[in-house]
Amino acid sequence: MKPLSTKTAGFTDSIIRRMTRISLKYGSINLSQGFPDFDPPKAITDRLAEIAPYGPHQYAVTWGAQNFREALARKQKHFSGMDVDPDREIVVTCGSTEAMCASVAALCNPDENVVIFSPFYENYGADAILNGCHAIYIPLVPPDFHFDPDLIEEAFKDPKTKAMILCNPSNPTGKVFSYDELKIIADLAIKYDIYVITDEVYEHILYEPNKHLYIAAFPGMRERTIICSSLSKTYSITGWRLGYTIAPPQITDRIKKVHDFLTVGAAAPLMEACVTGLNFPDQYYKDLQAHYTHMKNLFVDGLHRLGLRCVDPQGAYYVLVDISEYGYEDDYEFAVDLCRKVGVTGVPGSTFFKEPVKNYIRFHFAKNDETLEKALERLADIDIMKK
Ligand SMILES: Cc1ncc(COP(=O)(O)O)c(C=O)c1O
Repeated sequence: MKPLSTKTAGFTDSIIRRMTRISLKYGSINLSQGFPDFDPPKAITDRLAEIAPYGPHQYAVTWGAQNFREALARKQKHFSGMDVDPDREIVVTCGSTEAMCASVAALCNPDENVVIFSPFYENYGADAILNGCHAIYIPLVPPDFHFDPDLIEEAFKDPKTKAMILCNPSNPTGKVFSYDELKIIADLAIKYDIYVITDEVYEHILYEPNKHLYIAAFPGMRERTIICSSLSKTYSITGWRLGYTIAPPQITDRIKKVHDFLTVGAAAPLMEACVTGLNFPDQYYKDLQAHYTHMKNLFVDGLHRLGLRCVDPQGAYYVLVDISEYGYEDDYEFAVDLCRKVGVTGVPGSTFFKEPVKNYIRFHFAKNDETLEKALERLADIDIMKK
């Protein structure tokens, strides 16, 4: 038999999802794979039930149902001040996951470079590989996850560099990029004619006093930015697979074509049900933020009380805990032992870092109070992990 593709030969199974399987095996509390364990807003599920008998059940317009795109454009204007043409500047995709891969395909030729901050959400490397591109990784330096602008400039200077991927708020660090940081990136992108592909799936999950700024709204950035975002986290519907891109018409035109061949379209009845969510008033987003702030305070303050070292996340729902003091050289081994011996599952931090950083474990806290309290109770015994 002929060998399978060399392009995908290096793909491993996702460590995040592997940790979920290990967690199930040991009956551990699973704080690895990041999805909420509470229900989506009732108004959205009620609307889904209401339309179930009569649809829409057939393909929507390939780049997304008209009313869904119009609602998205209104929401984007409300939160970012950007005017977005729902016909020429939006493509509805199967999650931000498809949006990002289609964006790289729309912009990059094989052998070109995509710049990615490390640590990073694991799909970005795969997006580069699937599109035949090379990833250039720029470290976000712990514990505060700052970056060196000179390294970005060096990467942008390479004539083969086409785009940068920017995850803001960031998974796994919980970093929310400041105005000054985004300005540095924007100025360099303009100077070296680089596109920015954002991943803003956590745009509404923020902790005071942090604010989300859209780099696309910075002067000179609209024409070179593809916003990728999704409804997964904002409305607690990760299984519905609804995401989107917002980009200028000539880029959107190309994304539409890639998307048409990749997936044809997102689920029509789910788009219809979610128009309700996209039209929610400001109070919904305030309540969401209050809900996540409560969970963050419960869990992260609890970690601090137990003496665990971690940086408070500014956004998203993850926390990286420093495990240096437990004497493990391999964070994967630590994560499996923690699951087995303490009964709490996280993701070994090295999954997210390009550099050889092996002293973190990532927990997510999009869980109900009882689960988080139980996890903290178990983590009180973490000293048994010391070698
Ligand atoms: C940074 C980031 N981007 C994208 C996704 C996936 O988003 P979607 O469900 O819209 O495909 C996740 C999921 O955890 C994520 O953490």
